[in-house]
Amino acid sequence: MPLLSSNPTQQCRWRTFNTTAELEQATTQAILQTALLAISLRGAFHIVLAGGTTPRHVYESLRNADADWAAWHIYFGDERCLPADHVERNSWMAAQAWLNHVAIPRTQIHFIPTEEGARAAASAYTQTLADIELFDLVLLGLGEDGHTASLFPGHELANTTDAPAVIVVENAPKYPPQRISLSAHRLSMAHKVIFIVSGAMKQQAVENWRDGIAIPAAAVSPTNGVDIYLEAALLAHTR
Ligand code: 6PG
Repeated sequence: MPLLSSNPTQQCRWRTFNTTAELEQATTQAILQTALLAISLRGAFHIVLAGGTTPRHVYESLRNADADWAAWHIYFGDERCLPADHVERNSWMAAQAWLNHVAIPRTQIHFIPTEEGARAAASAYTQTLADIELFDLVLLGLGEDGHTASLFPGHELANTTDAPAVIVVENAPKYPPQRISLSAHRLSMAHKVIFIVSGAMKQQAVENWRDGIAIPAAAVSPTNGVDIYLEAALLAHTR
């Protein structure tokens, strides 16, 4: 039975795993199953990738999956304003771990071009997303301060219905300070949203989230609610 968050605008289904490996395996399976369903229903699979380090093993295991790669379309929830081949780019990690190893057509892999400058990248990515109404799956991480994608506490979350799809983030508390992010509103335009949360440092953020405190992650509120995959230890001290 899923536990519901006390936040009235975001329906949360908390799914716990005893180990990080189990969490990663379940995430990989959920991605592949969601892809199969989307491709059978709509002929294509539009997935938004999470940045950070948590999804790395998931991406690595996807490179060995038997999937209909020709139908996959890849997007990013946020990107760091760094040169294209910088090892701290979210695109670099996803490419090394997964995308360089599978037959997804390159024209269907949509990196956020932050190497062109923040404003140009935001504008280009707004165009890229213009024809996609709902993503099939949005994957998101959680920062220790409750941020998700590059939506940070005290910064613009852009979660109103008239919010832009893509925003420029300045002075982010996590390196690098300049970033591009999909808005909370755009991230909510999805059939399915899965947060993957791993690591003891996330405990306070999880506690705040479950207590109904308005952390940025709570601003992503798709119609179907969100699934939060996390290690069981992270719920040890919450209600
Ligand atoms: C980024 C992110 C960010 C990330 C969280 C979790 O560019 O840093 O997209 O939102 O997902 O900070 O990061 P970890 O997985 O490294 O803990």
